[in-house]
Amino acid sequence: MEELEQKLGLDEEKKQSMWREELGLVLDREYYPVAFNSDAYLRDFYAQIDDPAMRIIHMFMPLIVAKLPKGGRMCDFGAGPTIHIGVCFRHCADEIYFADYLPQNREELTRWSKKESNFDWSVVLQTIACHEGAMDGSWRTMEEETRSKVRGVLYCNCLENPSIERPSNITEGFDIITTSYCAEYCTKTEEEYKAAIKNIVHQIKPG
Ligand SMILES: C[S@@+](CC[C@H](N)C(=O)[O-])C[C@H]1O[C@@H](n2cnc3c(N)ncnc32)[C@H](O)[C@@H]1O
Repeated sequence: MEELEQKLGLDEEKKQSMWREELGLVLDREYYPVAFNSDAYLRDFYAQIDDPAMRIIHMFMPLIVAKLPKGGRMCDFGAGPTIHIGVCFRHCADEIYFADYLPQNREELTRWSKKESNFDWSVVLQTIACHEGAMDGSWRTMEEETRSKVRGVLYCNCLENPSIERPSNITEGFDIITTSYCAEYCTKTEEEYKAAIKNIVHQIKPG
């Protein structure tokens, strides 16, 4: 079988896409652990920003962050392999955490935090810089500024409570939690969606 796959030039990505087409699968939570390809996701949605949903984030997040008080600990819940929301918080939060359910996404984020990722974030960074009002090439330092605030890459599951495996020093939760395109992707009913949001909100510090 492996020989045949090699002859046909089937790498893991091609096999997964053929398998999904063949079975007519929608990529829902049952298939996430095997079918979510972090590199393909980054390439499809963040190498260029054609998707209106992603544009909305890059347009509004800098404006929202500009109005928030400075300081505290933020976590991007269900970050996937992405850093874009953390980047928007680099001047606002003292500590930045990324949390995701899938090991392949946490591995990509860990690679990024060690400067070992191959993904080029420049299109996204330039877009964020533009919405922050910086037109002077300052996007070049954004990744490093963000990295210097990153304190961890955590496991999370919005279907559980507690929904984030927090390090022992974080006893009360986070000051800010963001989440984009996560709960709606891994819940199947309105009830489940509401429960997931509740589990995520539980991670916010009381007060
Ligand atoms: C469409 S991606 C969104 C990624 C990122 N937030 C973005 O804006 O591009 C959905 C994410 O939900 C995560 N996910 C899947 N099941 C989850 C669960 N039960 N709890 C939390 N996250 C989950 C996946 O690992 C994936 O990273």
